Amino acid sequence: MEYSVKSGNPEKQRIGCVVIPVYASRKLSISAKIIDKASNGYISNLIRRGEIEGDLGNTLLLHNVENTLCDRVLLIGCGREKDITVNTFYKINHTMVKTLQSTGATEIASYLTEITVKRKDINWKIKHSIEAIDEELYKFNQLKSKKEETRRPLRKFIFSVNGRGQLMQGELAVRHGMATSAGIHLAKDLGNLPGNICTPTYLAAQAKKLSKQHSKIKTSVLEESDMKKLGMGSLLSVSIGSRQPAKLITMEYMAGDKKQAPIVFVGKGVTFDSGGISLKPGGGMDEMKYDMCGAASVIGVMNAIAEMQLAINVVGIVPTVENMPDGLASRPGDIVTSMSGQTIEILNTDAEGRLILCDALTYAEKFNPDVVIDIATLTGACVVALGAHPAGLLSNHNPLANDLLSAGQASGDRCWQLPLWDDYQDQLKSNFADMANIGGKGAGTITAACFLSRFTKKYHWAHLDIAGVAWKSGTHKGATGRPVGLLAQYVLDRLDSEK
Ligand code: BES
Ligand code: MN
Ligand code: ZN
Repeated sequence: MEYSVKSGNPEKQRIGCVVIPVYASRKLSISAKIIDKASNGYISNLIRRGEIEGDLGNTLLLHNVENTLCDRVLLIGCGREKDITVNTFYKINHTMVKTLQSTGATEIASYLTEITVKRKDINWKIKHSIEAIDEELYKFNQLKSKKEETRRPLRKFIFSVNGRGQLMQGELAVRHGMATSAGIHLAKDLGNLPGNICTPTYLAAQAKKLSKQHSKIKTSVLEESDMKKLGMGSLLSVSIGSRQPAKLITMEYMAGDKKQAPIVFVGKGVTFDSGGISLKPGGGMDEMKYDMCGAASVIGVMNAIAEMQLAINVVGIVPTVENMPDGLASRPGDIVTSMSGQTIEILNTDAEGRLILCDALTYAEKFNPDVVIDIATLTGACVVALGAHPAGLLSNHNPLANDLLSAGQASGDRCWQLPLWDDYQDQLKSNFADMANIGGKGAGTITAACFLSRFTKKYHWAHLDIAGVAWKSGTHKGATGRPVGLLAQYVLDRLDSEK
């Protein structure tokens, strides 16, 4: 999709369709008033006749409106003007795309940028319009033998800005929006690929491909033999039950000051989680192909950062394995030694995410990180606690947690903090090793984070449990690309605060 910004009145746009907001109780927006005036009251006449109320989701498509240069005017109901939130702004954009798709228009001028969204500026609206449009248009059909063709696909969106003074920053917003959206797209594609294609080896190849596309990204991959030398007995205990070899991927993007300590992202990359010997029940097990969505979000956000050409140092680490019940697989009761030297009693082979993350988190120390953020589809308990709206957030450093909470608010890709109190650590006691890999009944998301916290003592660390947000089940089954939006926003906010 092509995106750009432009200033100018709606009636003067020579284009396939101009999209105009109208508000509840038949209230005209500024651009609606302008078109109304140009067309001698055509819009207000229609509204008086009750053709559109302006409620959220209403649409009205008009053709050949008098004294306008566009082929069509699409009126979009936005609800009460004062009530428009981040979520409603997304819905409005989705409605716009859905409606436009059933018209012949391919080039669009959107005046939805004039809508007031609480505490958001024009840049935010441009950026999030792009994300919302791409979200609505996303399809995963690379593995279908017959591709559905859209008759006249949308090609171009031009966002209206207020005067020439807003053009420059508007263009930057377009660039950032497109980069973030491309990162989300990549994360979705990786997530949606099935386990027989998206293996640890495949993820490693994708990360290497990224370094070919962006000269600033340097990718290296550790093999099982390398990990053995480093003492990653915990990570390797998971992959030993699979024919697929484990990989530890590192993507370094060092475009900031040499002395600046990097932000390190660590993403769980279990390309299929059968549970291992503690086998999962059969129903819905296909969705465990999504157990690498943390990894996908790290690869996606690295791509976004490189496309935005941000002057910052960021490292992405992806431990990736497949969790299978092979003859060599770990048994419940097995004890392994992690890279940190701490021993772990594996009481449940299905709590494998933490087993691979703990070694990757120890490995992260070598980058002398400013902060480490891990992203993982770690616990079903997180879905029970928070559902599909926010990711779970746990951290050993409150300023970092607050930064992530506000990046979540700003991006709309939200997270919600749970307590990482020491009181929960007792649940990980083992009679035979330094710790068990499960915490028993109660607070499963917190005890999983408690487990990880034992490997993150040397730096500021936050954990995002994305089990509830990384993909959708049911008829709209598919990866969401979350939390690429949140992570990209966090990095952008960090750059802003340095200025
Ligand atoms: N990948 C799963 C977590 C998961 C389950 C995410 C369902 C989304 C939906 C993880 O590896 C796992 O199996 N966790 C176990 C932990 C338990 C054994 C302590 C779980 O949540 O049941
Ligand atoms: Mn599991
Ligand atoms: Zn898992």
